[in-house]
Amino acid sequence: MTEIKAGLEDIVVGQQDICFIDGDKGELVYRGYHIDELAPYATFEEIVYLLWHGKLPNQKELAQLNDRLVARRSLNEDHLKLIRSMPSNARPMSVCRTGVSQIGLYDPEKLTFDKETSLLKADDILAKTPTIMATFDRYRRGLRPIPPREDLSHAANFLWMLNGKEPTREAEKALDLYLVLLAEHDYNASTFACRVTASTWAGMYSAVVSGIGALSGHAHGGAVQEAMEQFQEIGNVNNVEPWFEGCLNSKKRIMGIGHRVYKALDPRAPHLRARVEALAGQSENRKWFDIAAKLEEITGQHPFFQERKLYPNVDYYSAPLLHMLGLENDMFTPMFALSRIAGWCAHIMAQYADNRLIRPRADYVGPKGLKWTPLEDR
Ligand SMILES: CC(C)(COP(=O)(O)OP(=O)(O)OC[C@H]1O[C@@H](n2cnc3c(N)ncnc32)[C@H](O)[C@@H]1OP(=O)(O)O)[C@@H](O)C(=O)NCCC(=O)NCCS
Repeated sequence: MTEIKAGLEDIVVGQQDICFIDGDKGELVYRGYHIDELAPYATFEEIVYLLWHGKLPNQKELAQLNDRLVARRSLNEDHLKLIRSMPSNARPMSVCRTGVSQIGLYDPEKLTFDKETSLLKADDILAKTPTIMATFDRYRRGLRPIPPREDLSHAANFLWMLNGKEPTREAEKALDLYLVLLAEHDYNASTFACRVTASTWAGMYSAVVSGIGALSGHAHGGAVQEAMEQFQEIGNVNNVEPWFEGCLNSKKRIMGIGHRVYKALDPRAPHLRARVEALAGQSENRKWFDIAAKLEEITGQHPFFQERKLYPNVDYYSAPLLHMLGLENDMFTPMFALSRIAGWCAHIMAQYADNRLIRPRADYVGPKGLKWTPLEDR
């Protein structure tokens, strides 16, 4: 009998040189660089270049990438019309999916798969998606959209378009770090979805839309919103313990804890935790950090979590970080997408460069040989 691994757990389905994860040691490596090496120094734009080209950019290469992205940040009047026509209560993740699909309609490039053309499409998706999300969020708040600026980084420009004021250096750095840490994660569900779509020789926009759909569920990118909702439900640090007991009794999962691959602390979590603590130190209200830190401490000491090797994942401290940057909870998962587009596009380009249709088999366990019954006799 064929051995089935539910959820393809631990099944190796390909080779790639973009990202390495050691789940037991809690290690994450982008293109040979350990995340601890990148997190303190790299900007998101440098990570994009690293993922797409396999090496860190020199100054000229970084400036060229920046120019390409900046030139593609704006939305045309048709894009804006579509966003204006979206229901204001639409889920932002659905807006993200529809928005990327729509910019694909205006892609002037042919459906070709060479690296140079793919890079243009990747630039387009990476540069325009933040504008789509900020524009939608402002429309639904009854505010006029704010056009992108050319003189701001990817992170700062997004906060500018969202809030209409330049972010503080701390806020820009916090969002930039977030984007760096979430940019790539090997064959996770959304990246695999992108690869499956790309393997049919579908275009880059279609492949990224597949990724956005796969990211939206709470076993993947959707968890970050639910993590914030749970911290808000806890409400204050004194309520962490009773809330946790209630969770155990009702067998409810704690959002932002556990990972399919990491059986040690997710290496991105300490970087995010430190940044959240720094942001909290500057704010009048450090309660989100205190609640998250307390819940981490309690789960870390509990045998159920110890035995199952359940630790905070990337979403756990992303939630208070994005909240402290002023984002609505339902914008958190689209933020994940804004970063992961970098990794998705790297994988899609790698898939095109060495493609074979991804087409697994399944064991059929249903009946055979049934006889047709006319409709009126059923
Ligand atoms: C991420 C996740 C889907 C990985 O799941 P998985 O590898 O399929 O692990 P399983 O669902 O098989 O869980 C293994 C055990 O740990 C428990 N568990 C896993 N995550 C848990 C959590 N967040 N809270 C409480 N218990 C959890 C399961 O109940 C199960 O217990 P059991 O052995 O008694 O049946 C899972 O940890 C989860 O649902 N986490 C919360 C959502 C989340 O943060 N998602 C973002 C991932 S980056």
